[in-house]
Amino acid sequence: MPALARSPSFAVLAVLALATAVAGEVFFQEKFDDGWVDRWVKSEWKKEDNTAGEWNHTSGKWNGDAEDKGIQTSEDYRFYAISAQFPELSNKDKTLVLQFSVKHEQKLDCGGGYVKLLGADIDQKKFGGETPYSIMFGPDICGYATKKVHAILTKNGKNHLIKKEVPCETDQLTHVYTLIIRPDATYSILIDNAEKQTGSIYDDWDILPAKKIRDPEAKKPEDWVDEEYIPDPEDKKPEGYDDIPKEITDPEATKPEDWDDEEDGEWTAPTMPNPEYKGPWTQKKIKNPEYKGKWKAPLIDNPDFKDDPYIYAFDSLKHIGIELWQVKSGTLFDNILITDDPEYAKKVAEETWAKHKDAEKAAFDEAEKKRLEEESASSKDDDLDDDEDANDTDEDEDESKSSGVDAKDDSDDEKPQHANKDEKAEEVSKDAPSTKKDEL
Ligand SMILES: *[C@@H]1O[C@H](CO)[C@@H](O)[C@H](O)[C@H]1NC(C)=O
Ligand SMILES: *[C@@H]1O[C@H](CO)[C@@H](O)[C@H](O)[C@H]1NC(C)=O
Repeated sequence: MPALARSPSFAVLAVLALATAVAGEVFFQEKFDDGWVDRWVKSEWKKEDNTAGEWNHTSGKWNGDAEDKGIQTSEDYRFYAISAQFPELSNKDKTLVLQFSVKHEQKLDCGGGYVKLLGADIDQKKFGGETPYSIMFGPDICGYATKKVHAILTKNGKNHLIKKEVPCETDQLTHVYTLIIRPDATYSILIDNAEKQTGSIYDDWDILPAKKIRDPEAKKPEDWVDEEYIPDPEDKKPEGYDDIPKEITDPEATKPEDWDDEEDGEWTAPTMPNPEYKGPWTQKKIKNPEYKGKWKAPLIDNPDFKDDPYIYAFDSLKHIGIELWQVKSGTLFDNILITDDPEYAKKVAEETWAKHKDAEKAAFDEAEKKRLEEESASSKDDDLDDDEDANDTDEDEDESKSSGVDAKDDSDDEKPQHANKDEKAEEVSKDAPSTKKDEL
């Protein structure tokens, strides 16, 4: 744990901030060094139906620092649920920073890589898809359609998704995701210490009804001109326009030498489209000088709006959890941090992800090269079996589909915000059957 310094006043905080980078408070920090098992509780959720996945304590197949381990999902078609506790806190009147790193070594085609902040009132042994949470944050990938960063804020029992699209990383390397929520009700989402989205919680989530609405009583004035283009009165049909025929006889055509009028009938030249013919005449259109634009009812104060100055705040935060469904496993979480100090979070990302990212990329490139070499070697061996292989894949498809259907029954009920998640999982497994199965 870094030095903790609770600042007695803002003035002191400002001075400290100048003097040292670490001026805030760290509520929770997990580097997944040895001993992590004592801090985390594996949920018994899904254990009964044998669909609860195992975590692997590892730095993964490629990394920039083999000693820096995290926890990685290690079984396909499994549910994962694990959580840890920290001293209960409220982010009222303070900044909240939630940060973690995630690496999808499996080339994730459908699955989440997010974490959840939960209140005091949960049973860690039963933590699962239905457990109410306060914040859900992190990447979610499914097929081609979903590649985004979730930032869900739960208020009065309702999950509110961020309305802005925040694309997530989709490669197989480690990335750091940071959510900052400030007491002025603004937020920022960072990936690898770079801000990807920022704004007001009022604007970017539909937590409260809109402040202003279009006046439902207002009516479009009688004399409002909303016809943008009108026929040009200056444009007149040219004389004789309608007399131009659509087709003319082909002037190039000649009667064939061997044409026999008696046997073949009277020769007539074939017709062809008339190049002069331009279709029915239409009057040119011009911009209407009277045009006033599309009419919109004026904005008025929404009578249903009631401000909540603590729109950004959660009274009780006490647990951090990871709860996922994974078609293909291999997602590795590390360096989870909850603090009130964005500068400290930035520094942690610099000292972990940034410090090792080049080495990790080199290790990945090396592993990828090896994989491709092995693949092309084995595909040469298998050349004769290619057709059969293609049909084998079809069978695998059905297998993976049924696994998806099993999962669907559970998760449709339990995850309203992901109602179509497992349908998408099916689509994906149809298009890209698990390579693991192909290799078998
Ligand atoms: C854990 O991860 C390491 C590194 O990728 C791997 O070698 C090992 O087989 C994994 N263990 C399990 C149980 O998945
Ligand atoms: C697969 O099986 C079908 C029917 O048995 C056959 O017509 C086809 O040629 C096979 N191979 C591929 C690549 O589809």
